Amino acid sequence: MKVSLEVNGAARAVDVDPWRRLLDVLREDLRLTGTKEGCGEGECGACTVLLDGAPVNACLVAAGQCHGRKVTTVEGLAGHADGGAVLHEVQAALLACGGAQCGICTPGIAVCASWIVDAEPIGADAGARARVRELLAGNICRCTGYQLIVDAVVEAAQARRAGEGEP
Ligand code: FES
Ligand code: FES
Repeated sequence: MKVSLEVNGAARAVDVDPWRRLLDVLREDLRLTGTKEGCGEGECGACTVLLDGAPVNACLVAAGQCHGRKVTTVEGLAGHADGGAVLHEVQAALLACGGAQCGICTPGIAVCASWIVDAEPIGADAGARARVRELLAGNICRCTGYQLIVDAVVEAAQARRAGEGEP
């Protein structure tokens, strides 16, 4: 099946078995290896990408389901300005807060966190931190204990609000 899709803003086409996993299309056919495989069965979130703007586990999505749709991977988060790459707020905050250790979960967490800061008005109060933990519940990290990851998402949300001129 010829599958045409938009990946990180670029039109791509692959000729694959419609049941081929989106994870394999990204990593093997399109050479976008930032998306990681952990469990391969929808439990860990390491393979999280955005499909039409919403987080999905790429190990559970079939290529045939992606025809005509938009996929964003971790490679698509950073922007460009003045000839150089500009990290997404969540990437900068994960770096600044030390929200990664071995890094296997980090691409999936960065992608999910980018959706959180787009979709949720996250403050800095305890309730907001609990909400971040709830929204990241599908992304397992075996190293960090989550505290620094939550710190990073809250910081990224604050950077986003500041960038939009909100207090
Ligand atoms: S590899 Fe997809 S959820 Fe674990
Ligand atoms: S940093 Fe190692 S699993 Fe999250």
